[in-house]
Amino acid sequence: MADIKAPFVGTRLRRLRRTPAIRALTRENRLSVEDLIWPVFVREGEGIREPISSMPGVYRLSLDMLENAAREAGALGIPAICIFPYTDQSMKNETCEIAWDPDNIGNRAIRAVKAAAPDIAVMTDIALDPYNANGHDGIVRDGIILNDESVEALVKMALVQAESGADILGPSDMMDGRIGAMRQALEQAGHKDVAILSYAAKYASAFYGPFRDAVGASGALKGDKKTYQIDPANRAEGLACVARDLDEGADMVMVKPGLPYLDMVRDVKDQFAVPTFAYQVSGEYAMIEAAAANGWIDGEKVMLESMMAFRRAGCDGVLTYFAPRVATILNG
Ligand code: PBG
Repeated sequence: MADIKAPFVGTRLRRLRRTPAIRALTRENRLSVEDLIWPVFVREGEGIREPISSMPGVYRLSLDMLENAAREAGALGIPAICIFPYTDQSMKNETCEIAWDPDNIGNRAIRAVKAAAPDIAVMTDIALDPYNANGHDGIVRDGIILNDESVEALVKMALVQAESGADILGPSDMMDGRIGAMRQALEQAGHKDVAILSYAAKYASAFYGPFRDAVGASGALKGDKKTYQIDPANRAEGLACVARDLDEGADMVMVKPGLPYLDMVRDVKDQFAVPTFAYQVSGEYAMIEAAAANGWIDGEKVMLESMMAFRRAGCDGVLTYFAPRVATILNG
């Protein structure tokens, strides 16, 4: 409970809100460029910067354009980039082997960022959806998403991404046992210092809609992801997933989506005291952009206020498509 020292008129809380200087002195949280992870979409080709209609201001980048983005992130002081591959229908099948091909677009993107901006931490996504004919994050047989077979595939993805130079692996698949299996495989292969930022409390959310367009998975997805992603009604289950992933060797954890799930962020930070991240997902981004485009909100102010909300809830950092815009503003 807030600690009120004295009753009115001893306490007048408005005294500390009176001027910008006093507000600045007493502000409890601050934004920093160093808390940003920038998710970027990559695709085949050259010289391509392809707009994504449901995410105005976000593009699918060919690798040469990704290199420019990496240098831009470096100049802005953004510490990390997270790579998401857009794949054509022809790359997708039921067995998903391309997911662990060292020369797939995601792995080439890791090497491209490392070459262009060696100081930037490269984060990946581990899930089969960009390469799966049915759009799911795991292997599907007879309409069932198979857990253990999926984990085997995801471990292969993790090893190849580590081999390609990834600093932070981001398993977003929500299969059981994947963190432990990856951690053990990474140790055995000599990748003992590759970090895992687990999508630990990842909910079955309708806020991912624009992302599925961005990676070319919307058309492919058969059914929904409710047998592996968490029911939005559940709070204890989200915390259990975090506890489990930390036990199995995750170094950092994520709550996803972001703003609608800040209660989870606060609980995770308080209960586990580990580096805690939130993902401000595509639908959250799209809502802010759409309202701003209509003149219904001040997009820039809402963007910055949303960043502050993540900090106040206890986030150590945020994955956000706004990262370069936020960084530009914070850098003055
Ligand atoms: C898939 C993945 C998704 C997102 C990140 N990784 C979509 C999903 O689970 O269907 C969503 C990100 C966003 O909406 O911005 N493994």
